[in-house]
Amino acid sequence: MSTPLAQRAAHVIAQVSPDTPADFVLRREIGTDPDLDSVEKRALTGAVFAFFRWFAWLDTTDALPRRVLAALDLQKRFDADPAAIKPEALAALALPPWALASLDFPTPEARLAYLRQLQRPPALWIRPQREFAASIARALRHTTPPEVRAANFNLTPSPASTALRYTGPSDLFKAEEFKKGLFEIQDLASQIVGHACAPLPTETWWDACCGEGGKTLHLSDLMGNKGVIWATDRHTGRLATLRKRAGRAQAFNYRAVTWNGGPFLPTKTKFDGILVDAPCSGVGTWQRNPHARWTLTETDIRELAAIQLQLLENTHKALKPGGRLVYAVCTITRQETTEVVRAFSAAHPELEPLPLLEQTTPAADGLFLWPHELDANGMFLAAWRKK
Ligand SMILES: C[S@@+](CC[C@H](N)C(=O)[O-])C[C@H]1O[C@@H](n2cnc3c(N)ncnc32)[C@H](O)[C@@H]1O
Repeated sequence: MSTPLAQRAAHVIAQVSPDTPADFVLRREIGTDPDLDSVEKRALTGAVFAFFRWFAWLDTTDALPRRVLAALDLQKRFDADPAAIKPEALAALALPPWALASLDFPTPEARLAYLRQLQRPPALWIRPQREFAASIARALRHTTPPEVRAANFNLTPSPASTALRYTGPSDLFKAEEFKKGLFEIQDLASQIVGHACAPLPTETWWDACCGEGGKTLHLSDLMGNKGVIWATDRHTGRLATLRKRAGRAQAFNYRAVTWNGGPFLPTKTKFDGILVDAPCSGVGTWQRNPHARWTLTETDIRELAAIQLQLLENTHKALKPGGRLVYAVCTITRQETTEVVRAFSAAHPELEPLPLLEQTTPAADGLFLWPHELDANGMFLAAWRKK
């Protein structure tokens, strides 16, 4: 028997296509229905994403609402007991086989922990401005600090210090503190990128792929609104959103400029630090955005790896001697992580690989932030210093 929730989720899913992703259709559906309250919005989002999380388990001869109900049932069983779904089934069905083959896990246990993490609903993370961290935690009430099960790097003292997991029922976009720019919704792994950069208030940074400025705003906060950040992106519309967010957060130490990623740099300035938060396949976000598991192709990954390498090639020339280049991607495929780093390092003996976040294993190939260790997006980071 179908339910109104399954019907509505099926209505959303029917509009999804490779060019019209599930998160876009959901935002449109929710945005055009002022009667939906935050509990209903969350239930609808949960049902649509459960459908794509358990997609390969579902019987394609069933009608969509029935498949939504089957997915919700699988989600319930799995949430109650992850062992209820066999590890072999997770490995075969949670993501395309070619994608699993492009991931290098340190141990078989890590592989299973990752697969189980993929099938859980994701955590919601916020980043309060440093000055307001304690008051935001009090005001929002349902928050907890991260518990990080990271094997090979140290998150103390700073990275986890302001990040908060939000577990409450409210629509955070409507919170007064959000409207005043006192906190941002930002995944824990993305926040760790800012801490890995560790910019100083006296420095000049370039956030070369700044998008809508998630990391620019974090760098600005870490710099105490001092120093200078050049924020560039090829999409002028994203820079407009950055300016709006920066206005809300009262961040003033940045210049937003369009740059197409090519060899003609946006300025002659030499930088203490450059962050290349490169366009990527987003495989690290597949827990949060499970529809993307079924639209990405191996060709996309090859093309993105070439762009990532090119962005590193073009940006590093703007480093000062002693300056740091930080590469970040919200993906964990071998082709976009260690292979990019090895190729770039081999071509640039004048750049010395740097360890990040008191990393306890050698730095040469970079640092993976695993979803199952953070309960957050998967990311990869690498850094170099210009000798
Ligand atoms: C991962 S997103 C950046 C997210 C952003 N740093 C944040 O924290 O919100 C990558 C960005 O790179 C930009 N981009 C894509 N291709 C590019 C290229 N070839 N050169 C420069 N920027 C590019 C995209 O417009 C996108 O905004």
